[in-house]
Amino acid sequence: MTEQATWEALVPLDRARPGLAEQLAGALRAAIGDGRLPAGTRLPSTRGLAADLRVSRGVVVAAYEQLAAEGRLVGRRGSGTVVSAVAAPTVDSGRAPEPPRGVAPLRPGVPDLGMFPRAAWRRAYESALSEALDADLDYGDPAGAPRLRQELAGYLGRVRAARVDAATLLVTTGAAQAFAIVAAALRRRGETRIGIEDPCSAPIRAHFAAHGVRPVPIPVDADGLDVAALARTRLRAVLVTPAHQSPTGVVLAPARRAALVQWARRVGGLVVEDDYDAEFRYDRDPVGCLQGLAPDVVALVGSVSKGLAPALRLGWLAVPAPLCGPATAVKAAADLGGPVVEQLAFAHLLASGGYDRHLRRARRVYRQRRDAVVQALARYLPRARVSGVAAGLHLVVELPDGTDDVAVAAAARAAGLGPLPLSQLRLRRQAGAGPGGRPPGLVIGYAAHSPNELDAAVQRLAKVV
Ligand SMILES: Cc1ncc(COP(=O)(O)O)c(C=O)c1O
Repeated sequence: MTEQATWEALVPLDRARPGLAEQLAGALRAAIGDGRLPAGTRLPSTRGLAADLRVSRGVVVAAYEQLAAEGRLVGRRGSGTVVSAVAAPTVDSGRAPEPPRGVAPLRPGVPDLGMFPRAAWRRAYESALSEALDADLDYGDPAGAPRLRQELAGYLGRVRAARVDAATLLVTTGAAQAFAIVAAALRRRGETRIGIEDPCSAPIRAHFAAHGVRPVPIPVDADGLDVAALARTRLRAVLVTPAHQSPTGVVLAPARRAALVQWARRVGGLVVEDDYDAEFRYDRDPVGCLQGLAPDVVALVGSVSKGLAPALRLGWLAVPAPLCGPATAVKAAADLGGPVVEQLAFAHLLASGGYDRHLRRARRVYRQRRDAVVQALARYLPRARVSGVAAGLHLVVELPDGTDDVAVAAAARAAGLGPLPLSQLRLRRQAGAGPGGRPPGLVIGYAAHSPNELDAAVQRLAKVV
């Protein structure tokens, strides 16, 4: 808790409103209550926190006194002000916990938005703004700010073993727009269908359909997409998540990678690689992306939605050279290019090493949170089996055969939890499976909550199951 940004994020104050001391006390109370400031946490000195938050010292003194009077803080000679033991949240109160910070515990796909590197982003944004020429504030290159494309090409080469050139890289508003651009480019080639992994993220499936390209399910097994099944279709485009399959969490096996590239070259097809969750592998170094093997047939899609925050709407699309002109034309027709200052700020964050630093920190935190969920599942739901590799922001837990995962997820939702039923993400029923498919399971997110909150959430989930 040394960074000013962390305290600002933890106790956001609206300086335009009166009652700063009450606001600060309220924000600290909430952070103590939901475990973000666990018992024993040493708070900064009143002078230090006042300087960090840019308020008068009297505001902090009043807030600390209020919370001390409530028993939430204790003053210790020599060790400052500490969160008291009695103020710590209880693990099982018997009541559904309030969903902290708006994200229901166990909801998949959400990073910890409280960890957004506000100070580093502010510095990057200020540098971008002060260096930008007046001319930079005009409509930019529709493919994206050249400086960002240059930085991103370097980053993707270094971290993802991609073979990307700034000239064939487009900056998009998230992976979502990259998919929309790919869909339009496919339609121009006369393709109206795309293979998608089964199971697969429902919003991504809907997104392709909304952009005029019909998703066709191709099964996924323990080695990822079944390429032989793909080859039996007449499809010429497929969407894959090789780094951490969404949602099963398997990694596309080396032999499948080679077979997929061969398939694409044989049929003159396109592999769309959603480099989903690639930033977060906990058991080993991440596997390099597929695009690096075959930039001639693979389009690489990524975004900062998991690494930084979805709100930035910053993503990228690297396409095989012949698709570059059509893809840029689609992007220009959609919006004349994305917001330039944000792109320049992200270029600064990449160049300064701030993005790598943030990801290293997030990786450490998320790994601990995943471990906390795995341990809690072993304790409270010993018959459930965790599948997939240790990566990303979610895991899949398979439930005993015959469990109705849709009903379990609905009951969990009613209890304030957010896991998704695995069977609802499947398009085809497996042979011999009962209603909902087999095995039944839940997709569980863990990035947005502390280990204590996750333990409590899994305990509640076990009661629901
Ligand atoms: C499979 C998958 N890919 C990519 C994304 C990221 O989308 P975007 O970058 O548009 O936020 C998501 C969002 O949750 C997703 O589920």
